[in-house]
Amino acid sequence: MIRTFAALNSKGGVGKTTLLANIGGLLADMGARTLLVDADPQPSLTKYFDLGYEAPQGLVEVVTGGTVTHLSISRTSIANLDLIRSNDGEAQLQHWLHGRDDRRVRLARALNNPYVRDHYDYVLIDTQGAIGPLQTAAAFAADTLISPLPPDTPSIREFRSGTLRVLQRLEHDENEPRAELAPIQAVICRYDYSRNAKSLLSALRSEFGERDRVTILDTMIPNAVAYKDAFTARVPVHTVNDRSGARYPSGYEVMHRIVWELMPDLYGNFAGRLQGNPDEVFGTRPTESGPAARQGVQP
Ligand SMILES: Nc1ncnc2c1ncn2[C@@H]1O[C@H](COP(=O)(O)OP(=O)(O)OP(=O)(O)O)[C@@H](O)[C@H]1O
Ligand SMILES: [Mg+2]
Repeated sequence: MIRTFAALNSKGGVGKTTLLANIGGLLADMGARTLLVDADPQPSLTKYFDLGYEAPQGLVEVVTGGTVTHLSISRTSIANLDLIRSNDGEAQLQHWLHGRDDRRVRLARALNNPYVRDHYDYVLIDTQGAIGPLQTAAAFAADTLISPLPPDTPSIREFRSGTLRVLQRLEHDENEPRAELAPIQAVICRYDYSRNAKSLLSALRSEFGERDRVTILDTMIPNAVAYKDAFTARVPVHTVNDRSGARYPSGYEVMHRIVWELMPDLYGNFAGRLQGNPDEVFGTRPTESGPAARQGVQP
């Protein structure tokens, strides 16, 4: 069954595009057919990877036409990784959606079509760091919401009082039919292992219990130049950062662990369609004090 994830956070610049591009690149390398959807008028995800083929259409036609066809599917230079590109430079879609009765379900319905179901295993939707009709439509199209969350006070405050509160409001909007949103998987990112970040993190982890809509993944993304370098080189981080250092686990290890937490049925699958026992490959789980040793992947 196809699974759809949307990256959502009311704060800009937290690492949504970086996270989705790296998840998408790794999924594709694992052999999963993956469709990126760039729902940010600033087309960062569209520009992340080189395109092998640029389709004549993009998100505007998908949303306004209410369906996905081959005309809106661009190909990245990575096998198994396709893209519905952002072509809404004037940010008209927010306005267009706002005036429609079906604004919440418009993107969900457009993506829920035989073309997408037949061609993809995973759909990953990137959004702009704010909340409006397009982000709402992306949220209602997803069966899991992913929120990158840097462990610093402004980001955590905004997550609580912005992202979470807005999602709650969306579910209880008196002008709309009652609807439940997907659960949120928060991914701690840009973690610098500082004392301050550690104490904020332990407070966060104790804040959200089993009955909350938020789960915080065990795996954290370090604040490491490898992620910026991969962005600049337009490649997924797992392909260029496969050695764990003394301070940080490698992008290869981190992204595998994140994908396995988000998509547990892929546990034990590695890039290059390799299979192995993660505990043997990576050693014990990375802890907050440092990475685990990496040994090597068994084909
Ligand atoms: N783990 C990381 N370590 C270091 N730098 C990072 C990390 N993740 C992202 N960055 C850098 O932070 C910047 C913002 O990241 P990104 O564009 O992914 O955020 P965003 O949430 O998509 O932003 P926007 O809201 O503008 O769309 C980029 O320069 C990116 O390279
Ligand atoms: Mg972005």
